[in-house]
Amino acid sequence: MDSFIIEGGHPLKGEIKVSGAKNAVLPLMAAALLAPGKSVLSNVPKLIDLKIMAHLLRVIGARVDYENEQMAIDATTCTCYEAPYELVSQMRASIYVLGPLLGRFKKAIVSFPGGCAIGSRPVDLHLMGFEKMGAKIEIEHGDIIAECKGGLKGAEIEFPFVSVGATANILMGAVLAEGITTIKNAALEPEISHLVDFLSLMGAKIEGKDTSTLTIEGVKELKPADIRVIADRIEAGTFIIAAAITKSPLKVVNCNPEHLKALMIKLEQAGCHFRIEDNDIFVLPAEEIKPVDIVTEPFPSFPTDLQAQFMTYMALANGCSHITETIYPDRFLHAAELNRLNANISVKNGTATINGVQCLSGAEVMATDLRASAALVLAGLVAKGQTKISRIYHIDRGYDKIEEKLSNVGANIKRVLG
Ligand code: EPZ
Repeated sequence: MDSFIIEGGHPLKGEIKVSGAKNAVLPLMAAALLAPGKSVLSNVPKLIDLKIMAHLLRVIGARVDYENEQMAIDATTCTCYEAPYELVSQMRASIYVLGPLLGRFKKAIVSFPGGCAIGSRPVDLHLMGFEKMGAKIEIEHGDIIAECKGGLKGAEIEFPFVSVGATANILMGAVLAEGITTIKNAALEPEISHLVDFLSLMGAKIEGKDTSTLTIEGVKELKPADIRVIADRIEAGTFIIAAAITKSPLKVVNCNPEHLKALMIKLEQAGCHFRIEDNDIFVLPAEEIKPVDIVTEPFPSFPTDLQAQFMTYMALANGCSHITETIYPDRFLHAAELNRLNANISVKNGTATINGVQCLSGAEVMATDLRASAALVLAGLVAKGQTKISRIYHIDRGYDKIEEKLSNVGANIKRVLG
């Protein structure tokens, strides 16, 4: 398994480019199954999760060409409505095919997704929504067996709390359902708005984009569409924190500042300043890092996917800060690894208390999940001496060539194969 070796203490300079958003591409790939014909996604990053999803679409019968930041998906000859365990167990977002398969083929067998390092991650809201739309759902031998002989029917669905995945899945099921579907307490994440844009380009009738109530009038059929994928706000936020923690005036380019307001507000409280120029953010880092408390919540609040990275930053703050994780209360595996680098963090009942230290010191640490790995990379950039991060396949799931991008702006980070 590959590792990263990072020599800390090198300031960054210049500009770092943000790639397309992993969490936008995944639902778009599933949505392409809804229409026979070829859809083309551009600005697509090269990531393990997208390779797994491409493999799943091929198993279902689509033709997928994925190279040079472009993905062409031809779903004309889809015949299989099964998502097997060996793929779903590798990437739980495979559950996204449930809606399109039910919508187009009226049947789906999707392996029941397991948990992961950040929590149990149930899919009960997805299944509740489809049952309300008339699907018969059984769980047998680890598979979700869903069927709706006469096709999905429009329904009123209200989620008890915000779920990005359930919103996306029900949305993709509703566009071909008979009648009107209303989704209340829908997720407001930019990736959902982007999915609404793509489905609308395919001919879907959806009202309420960027609001918490989506109304979908089912249509008979959809056609393929092309779209340029939005920038990855979590990758962008990770690079903004890289600039802040190394106290480097770095320019983060090709991002959407509108998607990063919650992070920038908290970094401003810590002493940073920003200059926004269209799709670029110029970071003016704080000299002395002030401690700042955060609570993770659905968009537009502070995103859980930047919690680990922000914790690394607070590890060097001049005082005590608190991080409360309301989305995944167990999402703190990175704290123990940061403590190996001389951080002073304790976790209790879903809240981390971070007592800032003067400096971090390099050591061997282990990546446990995608965003935790990014947090360890940020720590390595400033830790005194050498930091070795093992199991970096986690980071390759969601960051396209992160070591190359960071090296290009002055970091001393190398990938060690094997
Ligand atoms: C998406 O996961 C993202 N993944 C996650 O990013 C992100 O952390 C999460 O949204 C929250 O923003 C993708 O987009 C592929 P949820 P998702 O449904 O859809 C609970 C990353 O690092 N829940 O909004 O799975 C769930 O356990 C990944 O890129 C249920 O209880 O998240 C969680 O506590 C990690 N029942 C909360 O809701 C359900 O049926 C929010 O989950 C569904 C969710």
